[in-house]
Amino acid sequence: MACDLRTAKSGGISMTPEQAHIVQLTWRSVLPVGDTFAELFYGRLFALDPELKKLFKDDPVEQGRNLTAMLSVAAANVGKPERITVALRSLGKRHVAYGVKPKDFANFEDALLFALEHALIDVFTPEVKAAWRAAYALLSSTMLETFTPSATPAGS
Ligand code: HEM
Repeated sequence: MACDLRTAKSGGISMTPEQAHIVQLTWRSVLPVGDTFAELFYGRLFALDPELKKLFKDDPVEQGRNLTAMLSVAAANVGKPERITVALRSLGKRHVAYGVKPKDFANFEDALLFALEHALIDVFTPEVKAAWRAAYALLSSTMLETFTPSATPAGS
């Protein structure tokens, strides 16, 4: 396949402009049901790993707002991830401090796709899923750059 020079890249992970557009469009339809989306997300996350509950100190409503606010910024910028690289690295550093481990990113992705699937219902096609997976890979890889071996306890 020809190399698309407009493809958004960060840390070697890339998504096409079409995928960035899909993420923006579909996120717009999730936003009006943001609170339900957040409930689905955290319900799934804590079902996958109940231990993660201990890391969250804010009340669930506040957590849900944090999540939807960040995803709005992310969705608006996935086409140009270099605009939010610095913010994502700081976010990554704060996550090390919250006690998040690199392995938790897989459960977080699962919960995100689960909540999107339930919020978008029949709009959640394989193409939409692939676009969100690419966006998540882009965001999380930048955050994970800050999870250096010296920043995380051994064995994590
Ligand atoms: C792309 C991935 C992620 C994004 C965009 C994201 C976004 C955020 C945002 C915006 C906050 C608000 C506080 C702040 O800005 O520092 C936050 C807090 C937090 N996140 Fe994440 N996060 C991600 C991945 C994860 C993962 C994998 C975990 C592990 C389960 C996690 C656990 C937490 C915790 C424990 C807090 C603190 C909440 C509290 O103090 O109640 N996040 N996250």
